[in-house]
Amino acid sequence: MKAKKGRFITIEGGEGTGKTTLIKNLKEIINSKNIKCCITREPGGTSIAEALRLALVNNDLDLDQEIDIISFARSEHVTRLINKELNNGNWVLSDRFFDSTLAYQALMEPKRFKEIEQYCFLAAGSCIPDLTIWLDLDPKIGLKRAKDKNKFEEKTLDFHKKLRENFSKISDIYPQRVIKINIKNRNINEVTNLAHSVIRGRFSEFK
Ligand code: TMP
Repeated sequence: MKAKKGRFITIEGGEGTGKTTLIKNLKEIINSKNIKCCITREPGGTSIAEALRLALVNNDLDLDQEIDIISFARSEHVTRLINKELNNGNWVLSDRFFDSTLAYQALMEPKRFKEIEQYCFLAAGSCIPDLTIWLDLDPKIGLKRAKDKNKFEEKTLDFHKKLRENFSKISDIYPQRVIKINIKNRNINEVTNLAHSVIRGRFSEFK
């Protein structure tokens, strides 16, 4: 009998929202239920996609170049890593996925939203997150907490305010899939507990 497919959970948010720490905590919780779980990130997750990540964050690119790089990195990531893990029954936790493309690229050029959304779906194929947790925080606070300054973190506060609005629009477009957690005035343990209860409420196999 074929093993049950694993669950695919993505964590999204602006800069300095603590996604990486939350993902590590969630992996421990998932493992404690005897479920294997793989942590990954976008752009990234395979050697080619990690090289493409560097190309994306270190160069001044136009929108089409960014979409090409991100889409190539994503199809590589999905094919060589995520689908294999899920088909083996393992869970996958990804630090960002296509909602970041919708927020950082597509909704920054609203006229091109539908077109870029199609690129996202093409690169992802059947690999659509079962659940997306959006960590929402005022960018004034998030930017102070962000450690590595890449080209996106160096953009203006207005860009980051728009980014927050974009994630909010995405949660309106996909209300079943995208769940917001407001992380203002919450420490990482509190955020982890909230994310844990969202996962518990969503997946019957996760008791
Ligand atoms: P971070 O995940 O460490 O914050 O770095 C990745 C950067 O890449 C982040 O600033 C957001 C950006 N990015 C996009 O612009 N579009 C995308 O589709 C993804 C996945 C990331």
